This record gives sequence, structure tokens and C-alpha cells, in this order.
Amino acid sequence: MKIKVSILEPLREALFFIKPRALKQFIWIIEDYPRNLPSVLIDPGQLTQVFINLLLNALQSIKDSGEVKIVVFLTPDNCVVVKIYDTGQGIKREDLAHIFDPFFTTKADGTGLGLTITKNILMQNKISISIDSAVGVGTTVTLKMKAHYEI
Ligand SMILES: Nc1ncnc2c1ncn2[C@@H]1O[C@H](COP(=O)(O)OP(=O)(O)OP(=O)(O)O)[C@@H](O)[C@H]1O
Ligand SMILES: [Mg+2]
Repeated sequence: MKIKVSILEPLREALFFIKPRALKQFIWIIEDYPRNLPSVLIDPGQLTQVFINLLLNALQSIKDSGEVKIVVFLTPDNCVVVKIYDTGQGIKREDLAHIFDPFFTTKADGTGLGLTITKNILMQNKISISIDSAVGVGTTVTLKMKAHYEI
């Protein structure tokens, strides 16, 4: 069910699950959130699933230790943006076009459904996603949604 809520709520739910795993992998999680953030109209339970999927992908891309940085900000055109940066292995240019395809995986034990499900949930919640990556440098996932203001 969609409700008016801060995007930080499902993000914090997901991090509660992700942080102990990150710690075990010696991955540092950096969070940068603004003080005053408008609400968005979303299904928070679904968004928790999205953040868990994206953050697990980030952790899995880091072979040794590394860093995952989450930055949230409001744009001048009243959109809430969430960026997730990782210092993982990155995505090959030829793979980038296929990462949202069902069953596309480069992992021995992956199902390749994480990003397919993520994209469907985001579509239902009117949130756009884009992924930039450089092999050997890392990956950046950007989510963008309209802020929800009461009239
Ligand atoms: N942050 C990332 N860094 C590097 N590669 C990524 C990242 N996110 C996604 N990918 C690539 O996209 C592919 C598809 O991701 P997706 O989450 O759909 O499936 P998966 O992670 O392989 O399996 P599952 O999510 O079902 O465990 C991954 O196998 C990987 O190659
Ligand atoms: Mg995945």
C-alpha cells in the first residue's frame, strides 16, 4: 500500500539487514542525508526490498574490502534522488545492456532476478532507475522520484 513517507524509512530498514553483512566483509557504509527531506508516495515495504537488492548487489561486487556510499538529496525541480555508489568490480559495457533482463547473472549462485524485480517495483512506485559503471572503479545506481507535497 502506498503511503506518504520519507524515503529514509525503507532505506534504514534495509540497512538494518545489510550493515552486519557489510561489517563481516570489511565494507564501510557511508550515509549522507539532508536534514529536511520531503515525503514521497510509495509502498515502503516494497522499497525496503528494492534497497536490499541494490545494496546486496553492491556488497557482492566488492571482492576484498571497499566502500558503499549512499547519498540522498532534493533537486531544484522537487525530486528526491537516492544514489548508491560502490567501489566494486564494475559492470562490463556489453553486460550493462542486459542487467535488467530476467535471469541475467554473472554470479555462480545468482538467479538474475534481483534487478528485474527491482525495476518492476520501481515502475509501480513511479521511480526511475539508472545505473552507471566503470570496470575496476565501481558502480553508481541512481533512483529519482517526485517529492509529495500536501496542497
Ligand atoms: N553494483 C553492481 N556491481 C557490479 N555488477 C552489478 C551490480 N549490480 C548488478 N550487477 C550485475 O548485474 C547482474 C544482474 O543483477 P541481479 O541483481 O538482477 O542478479 P544477481 O545479483 O546476479 O542475482 P540475484 O540478485 O538473484 O541474487 C549481476 O549478476 C551483475 O553482473
Ligand atoms: Mg542481485
